[in-house]
Parts: sequence; structure tokens; C-alpha cells
Amino acid sequence: MNTITRRGLLIGGLGAAGTVGLGAYAATQGSSPSTPKGPFGAPTPVSPDRGQAVVTKTLTAKPITLDLAGRTVSTWGYGDAVPGPLLRANAGDFLRVTLDNQLPDETTIHWHGIRLRNQADGVPGMTQDPVKPDASYVYEFTAPDPGTYFFHPHVGVQLDRGLYAPLIIDDPKEPGDYDTEWVLVLDDWIDGTGTTPEQVLDELVANDSGSGGMGGMDHGEMDGMSRGTTDEAGPWGDAGDVTYPYFLINGRPPADLETLTAKPGQKVRLRFINAASDTIFAVALGGHRMTITHSDGFPVQPTETDAFYIGMGERYDAIVTLGDGVFPLVAKPVGKTSGGQAMALIRTGSGSAPGEGANPRELSGKVLIGSDLRPTQAAKLPSRTADATTRLTLTGSMQPYAWGMNGAPFGENEPLTVQAGQRLRINATNMTMMTHPLHVHGHTFALPSGLRKDTVLMAPMQSFAIDLDADNTGDWMIHCHNIYHAEAGMMIALKYTT
Ligand code: C2O
Ligand code: CU
Repeated sequence: MNTITRRGLLIGGLGAAGTVGLGAYAATQGSSPSTPKGPFGAPTPVSPDRGQAVVTKTLTAKPITLDLAGRTVSTWGYGDAVPGPLLRANAGDFLRVTLDNQLPDETTIHWHGIRLRNQADGVPGMTQDPVKPDASYVYEFTAPDPGTYFFHPHVGVQLDRGLYAPLIIDDPKEPGDYDTEWVLVLDDWIDGTGTTPEQVLDELVANDSGSGGMGGMDHGEMDGMSRGTTDEAGPWGDAGDVTYPYFLINGRPPADLETLTAKPGQKVRLRFINAASDTIFAVALGGHRMTITHSDGFPVQPTETDAFYIGMGERYDAIVTLGDGVFPLVAKPVGKTSGGQAMALIRTGSGSAPGEGANPRELSGKVLIGSDLRPTQAAKLPSRTADATTRLTLTGSMQPYAWGMNGAPFGENEPLTVQAGQRLRINATNMTMMTHPLHVHGHTFALPSGLRKDTVLMAPMQSFAIDLDADNTGDWMIHCHNIYHAEAGMMIALKYTT
């Protein structure tokens, strides 16, 4: 029963009336403030406006295999590859995406970062029923803002399988001052290597520090509070929980890396997406400085840097003018000592490829922290004082593996509330000794600098006052984008009260 209950909770309140399918280990019962609505039934069909372009796609979620430099692992993906197929549209387009669930488990799709209508947000128990095996669900929404996004399930720890793919929303009015563009999806990989993400979560929750080297805990030493900042982790204190055997760019490990070919002097737009579940990366391109132009889709004042950090769920766009030669593009996992790194290659000329351990000196230069970026004028929220203020505290520990928000796991914490039309200030504080990427659904928030983001890395004990305009009615998730933390309870609801 325990297994069934836990499983049911993990995969979306399967048959367990009055429980919610997230916050797996929170015993969500009866009158809890987060008790989900439902059943939801089919989404209300919506039609595109006159003249609105329609982008139609079917995504089949199914078991597949992935070739990791000669080692074949079983996983789940969208279509036949990891990452899944690129989905691309213009800002303002109407997307109609059918999820065909051929997995042996329930699933959903969440369109990470898109300010879309609530019924398309993909949160089981909150915006829809989970999609059962052999069933399908039609996601219909308008994508209002150009930018780099991605999509993934919002069920259990399925994100840590191969279920993710880039979503690019183009600005038809932006000429795009570059010659070519590459999308780089970063990931940490463990699925099919002798364990699954669900087993990893079970081990974390069971506090099984002796996980036999088959993945699991990243630290031999288990006292969450005593693990301080290391040089490896830079400003992030304790950065991750799980030991991954591989780190990937576009589904490929360094031993079988992707090579991007261009001409010297060409200007390239690099779109970075961190689809990892438990890994912050420091990213650098050997022999180059990068100019960061966008954060989570929104334009920033162009900022040149040697390298930058990217947390789980964050996206950054950079422009580089390519030199002549062969250059390693390295994403180094922050605070992790095994599993190597993620890597791709940019080739514009002759030369031999650097090895799997390539360590561009840019990584020891200036490593930019995304929240230090400044917004462009156009990307700012209109200036306005907050109508309402609320508190959001990130709480919890490694041992026991119990993460929460406002002192309790999801299902036991009170939802944050807002009235439509308000400017809401959320005073967020990370009261833990780990770094957490804080993610808000359905809205983009502004940091005190005005920087617009939907996911922000919060270092241990760091605070941010984040502002959002309540212009998208519904029930929304706010959570840590470490998928293991989220599943262990580090989530809270944001509800519109009128
Ligand atoms: Cu990409 Cu609720 O998350
Ligand atoms: Cu977290």
C-alpha cells in the first residue's frame, strides 16, 4: 500500500481522491489547502483568433533507447531522440500540440516559461488530469513572448528521463543580427544506467547514503548543514544531490559530441537551455568571450563575459563572433566531482579536437551570475508599487530529505494568493544550505533590478524581492526546479482569489 500510495502520488494522484500528484511525500489528505480540483476532463477547446497563425504538432511520449557513445540506455522520450523535436513558432502564434502518451505511466507536458492559459500549463491535479497511458491531451495556447523555452512533463521525476525538448518563440519583428543559430540543451544523465530517476528519488528520501555507487547521493558525508561552500561550487554552496555518470549537450556525451560547423568571423546566436534535474552548469566557449543577450527569453543589456552559470530551468542566449579553429564548448557541472562534463565542439577551421576533459581558461575567468544581468528598457515591467506583498521561504534539508516552502511540503503549505490585476511582491528567501532555482509558472517576474525571469538561482540564505503582475488567472505552481526537491515537497501554489 505504501508503494502504491507513493507511486500514485508521484504520478499524479492516480486514483487517490483528495491527494495531489506532486509533493510525493507530503501526506496530502482531505481538507488540505492544496487539495486539487478535478476531475478536469478535456480542456475547453479554444480557437485561434482571426489571422492568428496556427502551429500544429503531435508529440509521442514513449520508451526509447539512447546511445551514449556506444552504451545503449533505455529511457523515455518525445519521438525517437533526446532531446525531443524542436518546437518553433512566432510570438503571438496559436500552438495546438497533441500529447500522445505511449508511456507505461501517466504524464503531462509543461511549457516552461510560457505565459499561457492555465488549462495548458500541464500540472496534474492543478490544471488538468494526468494523461493516462494510451490517452492523449491537446494543449492549445498562444505564446505571447519571444524567447528560448523548453517543455517537459510535470509528473514525478520524469523530467530526469529524456522527456524534454526546446521550444523557440521567434520575434517576427526582430531581424536577428547573426548568421546562424544553435540550440544547446544541457542535461545530467542517469536514467537507464542501472537505475531510474524514480529509484534515485526513493534513495534520496530513504536517506540511503550507501547507494552502492549506482547513482544516488552525491556526497559520502550526509550532514546537509555542514557541507559548506567549496571552490568547485563557486557561489552556490552545496549545489546538487545526485551523482550522475554523464552530462550531455543535445543528448550526447563528450565521447560522442556534437560538432557545430561555421566560418570564421560568423556571428552565432547560442541558445542555452538547462534541462538538467539536479545540476547547475558553468558554461564557456574556449577562445571566446560571449555576449549574453537574453535571460529566460527576455532581452538584457548585452553583457560580455568569459563564462556564465545556468541553473536548472534557466535559459540564456549569447552572441559570439567565431574565431578560426576548433573550440570546445564546455558546460561544467558545478560542485560535482564525478561524471565529467558536458561538451560540444565548434569548428570553423582546421585543427585537432580537444579531449573530453577540455578545460577552457575562460572557466577560470569571469563567470557571470544571471541575476546580475540588467534588463533592457523594453523588458522591464511598468514601474508601479506593489498592491500586495507575500512571503516565500525555501525550507528543508538533505537529512531528512525533506524540502518545502514556507516551512511545509507542498500539500501542507498554504497557497500564496493574489487578486487579478494586482502587482504582487514576493519576498523570497532561501533558508537552506543549498542553492535552488526558483521557478514561477504562468508569469514572468522582475528582480529588484527589473530583470525579467521565470527561474532564478537562489544561493544559500539569499533573498530576492520578486514582482509579478497578476494578469493570468488560474492556479499556478511555484517551485524549486531541482526536480528531486520539487517532488520531495519544495513547491507551493499561487492562486487567484477573484
Ligand atoms: Cu520547468 Cu514547474 O517547471
Ligand atoms: Cu531545490
